[in-house]
Order: sequence, then C-alpha cells, then structure tokens
Amino acid sequence: MRAEIVKMSADNLNIEAIRKAGTILKEGGLVAFPTETVYGLGGNALDPEASMKIYAAKGRPSDNPLIVHIAEMGKLSEIAAEIPEKAKLLAQKYWPGPLTMILPRAAVVPKETTGGLDSVAVRFPSDRIAQELIRAAGGFVAAPSANTSGRPSPTMAEHVIEDLGDEIDMIIDGGQVGIGLESTIVDFTEEIPVVLRPGYISLDMIKEVLGEVQMDRGLLITDSNVKPKAPGMKYRHYAPKADLTIVEGEMDAVIRAINTFAAEAVDRGTQVGIIATDETREKYPLGIVKSIGSREDEDSIGHHLFEVLREFDHCQVDAIYSEAFFTPRIGQAIMNRLLKAAGHKIISVSES
Ligand code: TXA
Ligand code: MG
Repeated sequence: MRAEIVKMSADNLNIEAIRKAGTILKEGGLVAFPTETVYGLGGNALDPEASMKIYAAKGRPSDNPLIVHIAEMGKLSEIAAEIPEKAKLLAQKYWPGPLTMILPRAAVVPKETTGGLDSVAVRFPSDRIAQELIRAAGGFVAAPSANTSGRPSPTMAEHVIEDLGDEIDMIIDGGQVGIGLESTIVDFTEEIPVVLRPGYISLDMIKEVLGEVQMDRGLLITDSNVKPKAPGMKYRHYAPKADLTIVEGEMDAVIRAINTFAAEAVDRGTQVGIIATDETREKYPLGIVKSIGSREDEDSIGHHLFEVLREFDHCQVDAIYSEAFFTPRIGQAIMNRLLKAAGHKIISVSES
C-alpha cells in the first residue's frame, strides 16, 4: 500500500492534512477525495503530466477526458473560453452541486486533461472536503471517479483503497458519499443544451431552468452506430464479475421470474445473487439476496447501487438477477448505470 490514508469529516476538517494534500497536488501527485456524488481521483488540472498519471493509475484510455473541479464561481471564466447565458443560469441554480457543464476550453487547460478535445468539463462540487482541497491545490483539480477503469465508481474510501491504494499518494477518507451516482453532464457547445450523462439532477430539473434541453441520442438508442458524445459513455462500465441480467415488468411477475431463474441455477449447481429492495427481499427464498434500498425512497437506491455491485464481486456467484428501478426522478440515472453493468441484458416479463 503506497497511499497515505487520512480520515476526516465535513464538520471536522483536518486542515493540516488538506494542506498537505494540496501540496501533493501542486507538485504533480495524485490524491483521492470524497465528493457528494462519488470519490474522485484528483490531479492538478493544469499540469499535463498529472493528467497522464491519472489515466495510467486508472488504466483509462487517454482519449476519455477528465472533469475539472473548481471551488469558486469566479474560476470558471479562467478555464472556459466562453460561458453561454444558459450555462450561467444552470450554474446559478445547481452549483455547487452534482452538475458538470461542457464548455469551450480556454488555452490554459492542457489537451491531456480534455482528452484532446476543444471543450472542457467543469464541476463545482458541494462537498466541503472537496472544496477545501481544491482551494489548497490552487483552484483546478482534474478528477475522474476514483475507480479502476471499468469498475463501479467508489462510494466509500474502502473502494478506492481496493482499486488504487498502490497507485496514488493519498486518500482522504470522508466516509460514505451522499448521492452515490456521478454528476449529470450537460453539454453547452451545441445550440440546444444536451444531457450527456443522466444524474441526480434530472432532465426535468434542467428543463425547468433552461426550457429546451435534449438527451444525447447515443444514450437513448441502442444502435451501435450512434456513439454517445461523452467519450466515457461508450465504454463498458460498472460490470460486476458475475453475469448480470435485469428483469423488468409488473412486480409480482418480476419476482416470479427471478425465483424461476434462481431455481434453475440451483439445479445446475451454481450460486445466484439477487438485487432486491426492502419491500421485496423476503420474497426470494433462494440465492444471495441483497437489498439495494427502498422503493419509497429512490435516493436510497442510487446511494447503494455501486456498493451492492461491488459487494457481489466478493460473493461466489456466477449470475446476478436484478429488479429494474425506473423510479420517477433519478430512475433514468440509476437505469443508465445498471444497464451498462448488465451489458444491456434486460428481460421483460408480464403477468400470465
Ligand atoms: O460526479 C462526478 O462527475 C465524478 C466526481 C469525482 O466529480 N467524476 C466523474 O468523472 O464521474 P469521470 O471521469 O468518471 O466521468 C466523466 C465523464 C466521462 O464520461 C467523460 O467522457 C465525460 O465526462 N467528459 C469529460 N469531458 C468531456 C468533454 N469535454 N466532452 C464530452 N464529455 C466529456
Ligand atoms: Mg468514471
């Protein structure tokens, strides 16, 4: 283990450790830190070598750009060449928070950070530890999610240690994150703003502020010729080791189908995992059953999704069946991640 691990909480900041982490970042090192969405793997966004180190530590292709994190509104104009009125409006409403905006890149941001693109992704997180660290580092921290490329994003420091403990200099352990799904990404380089990645801030919440907004076609269409615009959205992601299948439909029919699949697996002598909810967990007699949260509280489902996917990697299961979670507000974000984790394997069942 190479990384130094420092524990702290938002209301009990260890200022000395934050200062040290800031120095590591200024000198070109890597520090993982909590944000309100998921843990980030930070490097100095204005240092091309730090960005290259981030790609190497994650095993991430260097054409997949990084998000630049700021901790003051005023810093935006230093890294964006142009800020459309609509972007200003959205920032006023949802920053600091789980929103990333794609804007034309200013020349100070190296191409290494933006994966060679002429646009830059910017986010102002609300997490206090993240904000203090960004300030201590000089104001601009490039941070993808702090997981090995392809694995579920980390929602607690243990996940970061598991993936990157040997690769980076420091990990700030701020406990479990609040949201558990990565930020909503909105692209302002087109005439009409486009959502490139759904998140906690839903399409409707953005429409309320901006009026016309589109969903990236690459997210809606499963035609492999239509590529998502955010380079990272085209990669296989979040996949657990076991084969994951989503089962959707009327609740009773879903439970019956999953129980049939579980019984067939047991007959074959294999172990199955089941992703259920607090309301349904008792209805599955076979397999390793994990509740992801409550259908009465959709945020709890988003909060636990990546954690449950990682937990199954530590269980001896060959196949996982999951209920679908098309919940009203963040269902789009949850299902976007779950479908990727399942390689888009989804079975529809109906009442017979
Ligand atoms: O919540 C979050 O956004 C977390 C925390 C740490 O802030 N970060 C995060 O970063 O999820 P990452 O690198 O795992 O995902 C960033 C996504 C990728 O899909 C990437 O392709 C896309 O944003 N992206 C970054 N810059 C872009 C750009 N200029 N144009 C289009 N897509 C971009
Ligand atoms: Mg990521």
